[in-house]
Amino acid sequence: MDIGEVAKRLAEAGQSHLLQFWDELSPEEQADLILDLESMDLREINSFFKSAMQVSSHSSEKVDARMEPVPREVLGSVTRDREHLMTWEKEGLLQISQNKVAVLLLAGGQGTRLGVPYPKGMYDVGLPSRKTLFQIQAERILRLQELAEQKHQTKCCIPWYIMTSGRTMDTTKDFFSKHNYFGLNKENVIFFQQGMLPAMDFKGKIIMEAKGKISMAPDGNGGLYKALGSQKIVDDMEYRGIAFVHVYCVDNILVKVADPTFIGFCVQKGADCGAKVVEKTNPTEAVGVVCKVDGRYQVVEYSEITLATAEKRSADGRLVFNAGNVANHFFTVPFLKDVVNIYEPRLQHHVAQKKIPYVDTQGQLVKPDKPNGIKMEKFVFDIFQFAKTFVVYEVLREDEFSPLKNADSQDGKDNPTTARHALMSLHHRWVLNAGGHFVDENGTRIPAIPSLKDGTDLPIKCEISPLISYAGEGLENLMRDFEFRPTLVVDEKGFHELVKNGV
Ligand code: UD1
Repeated sequence: MDIGEVAKRLAEAGQSHLLQFWDELSPEEQADLILDLESMDLREINSFFKSAMQVSSHSSEKVDARMEPVPREVLGSVTRDREHLMTWEKEGLLQISQNKVAVLLLAGGQGTRLGVPYPKGMYDVGLPSRKTLFQIQAERILRLQELAEQKHQTKCCIPWYIMTSGRTMDTTKDFFSKHNYFGLNKENVIFFQQGMLPAMDFKGKIIMEAKGKISMAPDGNGGLYKALGSQKIVDDMEYRGIAFVHVYCVDNILVKVADPTFIGFCVQKGADCGAKVVEKTNPTEAVGVVCKVDGRYQVVEYSEITLATAEKRSADGRLVFNAGNVANHFFTVPFLKDVVNIYEPRLQHHVAQKKIPYVDTQGQLVKPDKPNGIKMEKFVFDIFQFAKTFVVYEVLREDEFSPLKNADSQDGKDNPTTARHALMSLHHRWVLNAGGHFVDENGTRIPAIPSLKDGTDLPIKCEISPLISYAGEGLENLMRDFEFRPTLVVDEKGFHELVKNGV
């Protein structure tokens, strides 16, 4: 396409300003800009903008009024349904052993809040082993495959689909390749890329971040569904005989990848779609809540609920909307296929007002101090409404949810320190439950619930490789009646009591 043709299309779409600085660009910059413009469907983008703005203008208060909590009959719980847990786990392991389960990682986000220039999965939160989030997840997959294989005396594999964006694809792939796929078979780690959308000002004009560069961002984690179709991922799943997919976000250090109990629960309930939740106890916690709106299942995001609704409590004192979304979802492949083929175009973009740096008409870069435009995103859970049988599975926060969202700061939440502490404190409990004990430098036993030293609430420094234990299993023979001195690291090479513990 030549520049005349592009200019015509831009004029028709009311976006001619994108070529305002054309004559000042180098030939390379011109080529890049043309490439970006050619790949954009301007008519579609304009219509996304129109309907997204329409929906967002009458969202918040009205959604609040239409919300209902999740009914008890669709809810399973690790605490209230103890007698079923073994059966569900058995079912999940059976499905895994038959190669019917895949995991799908949403890793296309930009990690803006954490503030690192590389994908979040590559982050090292400072564990004794210095493992990254990607490595922890990979090793949990390996261990789970092994558990299913041992139980059913058969070889199996859990394919790992990894969604990246234009911003994270190359770095993510290089990282996996450099680390030899963390021991996984390369053919079973499948990368694919979600789409991008331009940022727009409040009048619907696309924003330029430099004279020759459009301000683009990934189209939200719900961009998954378009990508599943366009990159033939559902086809790949069918080809491999996958029936169930566990979709999760990259940033939760405790994530139970392909959790057999969650999968078994969803399978036995005959669900086509399921969500894992933890009890939300603080009204202002930044998690979405799973609920019903107009009788249909949905997540109302923390940015979309009013404080009055978030604070509502029932007679027993618990929050009414307490099903906190931990971004762990279960889908059957036929359901995903329907989503790709039928429902995806019906999903609305959510609007996030942002401060977006832009080039003004004089060609100056401006960094606004208040929101000047929007980013449009689809959300991964927006397909719950189309499920025929939807279930919710409640798990314990201390066992399964500690997201890494922010950089470290004093009294901060959801940061590298809280993630590291959550993992070590879980592993500490695994050791105690397996009959092991910790002693201090004088050989005195450290109580199971250590007293707060110097007013600090530091966990026992202890890390167990996912290659040794997926969720605390198999440790009794290794640990019963043993005494360990922190820092304890248990991995495939044995026990290490690290003398230097700078964790
Ligand atoms: C997300 C959930 C929220 C939940 C919380 C729990 C969504 C929309 N919101 O919120 O309900 O309570 O996690 O921690 O799921 N991502 C992409 N592509 C994108 C944008 C994001 O793949 O275009 C991925 C990120 O890499 C990450 C995940 O989606 O793995 C979540 O993104 P993030 O923006 O951190 O979501 P939250 O706002 O924290």
